[in-house]
Amino acid sequence: MDFVKEIEVLKKEKKAVILAHYYTLPEVQEIADCLGDSLALAQYAEKTDAETIVFAGVHFMAETAKILNPEKRVFIPDMGSRCSLADTCPAKEFAEFLKENPDHKVISYINCSAEVKAMSDVICTSGNAERIVGSFGEGDKLIFAPDENLGSFLVKKTGRQMLLWNGGCHVHFKLDEEDYKEAAKAYPEAVFIAHPECRESLLKHAAFVGSTTALIKYVENNDAPMFIVATEEGIMHELSRRCPSKKIMILKKRERKVYNCAYMKLNNLQKIHACLKDEVNEIIMDREIMEKARKPIMRMLSLS
Ligand code: 13P
Ligand code: SF4
Repeated sequence: MDFVKEIEVLKKEKKAVILAHYYTLPEVQEIADCLGDSLALAQYAEKTDAETIVFAGVHFMAETAKILNPEKRVFIPDMGSRCSLADTCPAKEFAEFLKENPDHKVISYINCSAEVKAMSDVICTSGNAERIVGSFGEGDKLIFAPDENLGSFLVKKTGRQMLLWNGGCHVHFKLDEEDYKEAAKAYPEAVFIAHPECRESLLKHAAFVGSTTALIKYVENNDAPMFIVATEEGIMHELSRRCPSKKIMILKKRERKVYNCAYMKLNNLQKIHACLKDEVNEIIMDREIMEKARKPIMRMLSLS
């Protein structure tokens, strides 16, 4: 079956759009109506007038799209597309943590469950986190969850003390300083850039730290001929499309393994086709949680 053709037909029939993150498979990125980072995808989801959204990403992204569109049908190609970072912050334990630390404002990274969002004052992504932290008054006590690496990076960048939840992404956390040193020794002329979910020991070497969109723009607008990028390998598809003459490498583990996000790679054309044709894997959520989680997401969008 020609899935690309069939998907196009079904999209028209069902007034559907496909949203995809940069970490998905190249063939998935290519059929997306919106390809972007978490922030761009949430912004697109808020504005779309499509009746159906197929979200090729991970579960919290599709949930966010549903929260922004409670009356629309939102599908995820594979229900197993979780996020290891979101999973490091179980709602029950987070509620306990908040109880132990009252009088704090809560900033949650978008990579968390709807239940955690519902307990937060505002959501942020790696694309707007500094601005969101800066939106709080000097006297406000802050909690940042769930990504500890991004939280530490923000504390350093903004000078604001925050209580950090001890969570992390299995892909970004695995990369370490030795991996960087080996790559830098092999390619001393390369500019090193990184996603803020990486460890501090790695971020301190980076010429630039930013979201996936920001990393792509940095490479696009920088004259250097060679880059080493510390993030998930899926970003390479868009990077090489936009910057065909530049040499760009993903930072690998020393044993030459590329760590990719297996959850993102669960999205494929066949499953997107099944969402549209058979209406499988619909995101169904609790109304009350959706309403509570919507407020901090809308606050983020209005601040972005
Ligand atoms: P971005 O917001 O930069 O797209 O990052 C999302 C993500 O899951 C990174 O691991
Ligand atoms: Fe989650 Fe990490 Fe995958 Fe991003 S790369 S979606 S943070 S598991």
